[in-house]
Order: sequence, then structure tokens, then C-alpha cells
Amino acid sequence: MEIQVFNDYVELSETAAEIVATEIRNNPEAVLGLATGSTPEGMYARLVEMNRKKEISFKDVITFNLDEYWGLLPEHEQSYHHFMYQHLFGHIDINPDNINIPVCTDVQVDRLCSEYDQKIAMCGGIDLQILGIGINGHIGFNEPSKNLTVFTHLVDLAEETIESNSRFFHNCEEVPRKAITMGMGSIMFSRKILLLASGRSKAEAVRNTVSGKISTEWPASLLQLHHEATLLIDRDAAGLI
Ligand code: PGA
Repeated sequence: MEIQVFNDYVELSETAAEIVATEIRNNPEAVLGLATGSTPEGMYARLVEMNRKKEISFKDVITFNLDEYWGLLPEHEQSYHHFMYQHLFGHIDINPDNINIPVCTDVQVDRLCSEYDQKIAMCGGIDLQILGIGINGHIGFNEPSKNLTVFTHLVDLAEETIESNSRFFHNCEEVPRKAITMGMGSIMFSRKILLLASGRSKAEAVRNTVSGKISTEWPASLLQLHHEATLLIDRDAAGLI
């Protein structure tokens, strides 16, 4: 696992955007796995700017988002659909038919999940998967547990996740308790993985991600088994390694 440490969040975001841009320049039909959360916002802002200046085009890019809250309609302002249009899709030349985000209102959840993985496979698999990391080491919404699930599935969110994400809602009670997430396999089968972490609150999770040991209690630690996983972290997130 390659680790790059940056002085600050701006440098980290610039580099992340450059890596995504290079992927798209090398393969205009790249399949990208995308993440939500505060961490990739700077990277998305830079990608929007590059697209505006016509330095890159998303015209033939295909995207799959990692996860979505269960029960939130796409138009809900805290849904990850909404986040993605607000920070990226609403500002770039992507074909809307090429955007994939789990829709979490279908009662046939098992079918929805297996179709999501099938569609990833039909598109040839993910070329570059972007990840954030939870303070508890989750990636996507694969929460620490004795067992991790391989494919896309419905998951109960961990208490730490609900508490941490409550900053985007009026209160903790409003945070959905469940989500659909790509599984660990859906993530690990990606050709390349880029994990972004910023801030002191992520330092413990980062330490456990690179510790040389793997544990389902720190899901991101499994990335140590991936051939092309890169960690982009700022100095604060690197504080314990
Ligand atoms: P954050 O979330 O970028 O908002 O810190 C990351 C995550 O929970 O995966």
C-alpha cells in the first residue's frame, strides 16, 4: 500500500483530483467508484474546475457510488444522490445514463443489491475506486464487525457513524439507521483504490489501516491486501503513524 502524506487538505485534494484526471485522460471510458462525505469535496471541486476549463471530459465516464442511506429519496437534501449532484454531477459533462447510485426505496432490496454488482461487472469492473474512511475504519458503510459482507448489501449503521453523520442532519434521530453499501468484495475487486483521509479524528483509523495486521474490526485494514491501493492523507491524519 502506497502512502502519501500532504501538508494540508488542499494539497491532498489537488493530488487526488490529478490522479482521477490522469485515469480519465488515459481511459476516457473509465469506470469510477465514487464516495461521498466531507473528505472528497475538495477533490470534486477541483475536478469540476478541470472540466469547466475543458482539461478533462466525463462524457464517456461511468460512475458507481459506494453507498446511499436507506429510505431517503434521491431529492432529500441529505441523500447521497443529492450530494453527488451538488458537488459533481450537476456541474460536469457526464451522461446521466452513466451515473449509478443505489436507490434505497425499493422493497426488493436483495434484487437491487445483486443488480448493482451485476451492473458493475457488466461495465467491466471499477477502474479506480475513491474511498473516504470513517473514524471507526469503515469504508463505504462496511462497519466494523466479526463478519464483513462481500457484495452490495443493506447494512445497519454503527452508532459512531450515526453520531458522526448527525452533523449533516438537525439531530441524531433524523439520521437513517440503515444504508445500502457496496461490500468489501465490490470494493476490493476494483483495479485501483484511492483512500483519502484528512484531520486528527481519522488518525487512529489510519494507523489501523496501515498497521501490517488485518482485522474485520477495522475494515479499511483489508486494503493492505490490494495490489494498487494508495492512501492520500494530510499530516493530521498521519499523526499516529
Ligand atoms: P467524511 O466521511 O469524509 O465525512 O469524514 C468519511 C466516511 O465516513 O467514509
